[in-house]
Amino acid sequence: MCGITGYIGCRDATPILIEGLLKLEYRGYDSAGLALLDNGTLDVKKKKGRVSVLAEEVDKHPFRATMGISHTRWATHGGVTDANAHPHVSSDGNFAIVHNGIIENYENIKKFLLDKGYSFSSQTDTETLVNLIAYHYEHRTPPDSENRFLEAVRKTLRHIEGTYGFAVISKLCPDEMIAARKGSPLIIGVGKNEYLVSSDILGFAGRASNVIYLEDGQIASITRDNCDIVTVSNAPVDVRVNEIDWELENAELGGFDTYMEKEIFEQPKALENAIRGRISDDMSTAKLSGLNITPNELRQFDRILFCACGTAWHACLAAEYLIEKYARIPVDVEYASEFRYRNAPLDKNTLVFVISQSGETIDTLEALRESKRKGFRTLAITNSVGSTISRESDGGLYQYAGKEIGVASTKAFTSQIAICLLVALYIGRMRDLSFAAGREIVSAINSLPRAVESVLAKASGIEKIAQKYTSYEDFLFLGRLAEFPIALEGALKLKEISYIHAEGYPAAEMKHGPIALVCPECPSVILANSDDISLKIVSNAQEIKARKGPIIAVTDRPELFDGIADDVIAMPRVHESIRGIVATVPLQLLAYYIARSRGCDVDKPRNLAKAVTVE
Ligand code: G6P
Repeated sequence: MCGITGYIGCRDATPILIEGLLKLEYRGYDSAGLALLDNGTLDVKKKKGRVSVLAEEVDKHPFRATMGISHTRWATHGGVTDANAHPHVSSDGNFAIVHNGIIENYENIKKFLLDKGYSFSSQTDTETLVNLIAYHYEHRTPPDSENRFLEAVRKTLRHIEGTYGFAVISKLCPDEMIAARKGSPLIIGVGKNEYLVSSDILGFAGRASNVIYLEDGQIASITRDNCDIVTVSNAPVDVRVNEIDWELENAELGGFDTYMEKEIFEQPKALENAIRGRISDDMSTAKLSGLNITPNELRQFDRILFCACGTAWHACLAAEYLIEKYARIPVDVEYASEFRYRNAPLDKNTLVFVISQSGETIDTLEALRESKRKGFRTLAITNSVGSTISRESDGGLYQYAGKEIGVASTKAFTSQIAICLLVALYIGRMRDLSFAAGREIVSAINSLPRAVESVLAKASGIEKIAQKYTSYEDFLFLGRLAEFPIALEGALKLKEISYIHAEGYPAAEMKHGPIALVCPECPSVILANSDDISLKIVSNAQEIKARKGPIIAVTDRPELFDGIADDVIAMPRVHESIRGIVATVPLQLLAYYIARSRGCDVDKPRNLAKAVTVE
């Protein structure tokens, strides 16, 4: 949700900033801009559109500087226009800022500043922030302050309500950049006589292996050879430098047309990485030391609460089925955005689990923080090493799925479910699950990468089916039990990237409403990979057929759909514990091929962003 980069050093800042923005475009892509500072001149360029549009503008009118800040935007306050694009400059022309987050009290601040003679040229909340910094610098910070710029920012932040991750530069302090964070991620890359700033380590584009994670309430004063950090209340902070493993962060297209396609095809590898080293030597349970919790402590919990957003929320629903089935512990699943405000009564022996690919989603982070404030033990499943959620949870499991760039989540989803299956197995074996049943699940888990590969091998057949359905505008996705969350995820994938209306429903529940949509113009994708209930699902399919609704069956028992389904995607027969993961793959491919043939930009779907760091 908005990407920020900053550079201060000895090299030409422009290519570093532009390359960083290109890497961060998955966070937002409706406009982009940069501000460079050299010899007392502030050069600002900003344009509606993708980073490539800004890059063309920069090429036409180059400006050489060794420090600067840049931004790729996902609009919150104010439409998508050149004027609302970042950076924003204070009305005295002295300060330029790039900001991610929302200043909630911006209207009051704006009134105050208008009274003082400051003017505004955009509709954004950010412009009030930069003007308030200018005001504090000019009127509230003595010229002989030890670090007047830092002091002005610090005083400003005491009046700000809301969230921010920002970098600000000033003509008046030409060798310093100030960066601060509350609620929106910000990382400082440490180089030799240079520093970089970014919302995500990807924005460093491999230029910094040593990083400082700025924490909420911290402000950094960065020069070419030093970085000091204080808190908003002016307490000094011990600066800790961490090393990043760039291999994990590798995010090149590698011959694929889009990141989404690449990430769908990377799933066997991502699953291998999720499982590696996490199976016990006797092959009957999981080894999950990252949970940071002893078996005895774990046995004390009699309820698990999962919180997440978007696709990760669907992974929580899948976890509910797996954990209740194999570990026999009741599981509740909450949207993080609801949970954080609704003050839900929680039993004292509840374990709270959050799932977040990015580890930065603000609602999930706040759900985690609220659970901690209430004294609950919190665990996290995330794909981003060093992310805020991974740092703030009491323990957790990394997915190691490799960086996911496509805005619509694919490999992260299947890897999250695989990890939840490991959790179900681990807790199950501490409770009622037998040694033999544990071994069966382990064997299923080990077969997972190959099972997914066998579905990927059907991609061209799925593409042909997709071609038949590109012009439909409504879809139903139906599944039962453990395949219900997968139906929800299939519908979400289709709507996210193709803009087709799609609804996921439990197959039998469909009779209580969605059946009204069934007609020749509304195809149903039916998941039927469960022995026990397949015949019931066939009856549901008959009900759709009787109303002339086209049917695509995704099933390991194709014979059941003879004469009923218009198209069948035949699935391998796999153990029930991994069926959901395997059944996800054809739905991802179906959505992908439909969206591609409609000419949609699957990696950057309209209005969406990958890491949602605003409420
Ligand atoms: C956004 C993304 C989704 C993702 C959701 C939660 O909406 O577009 O793909 O599932 O955020 O993200 P998280 O990083 O917390 O898993």
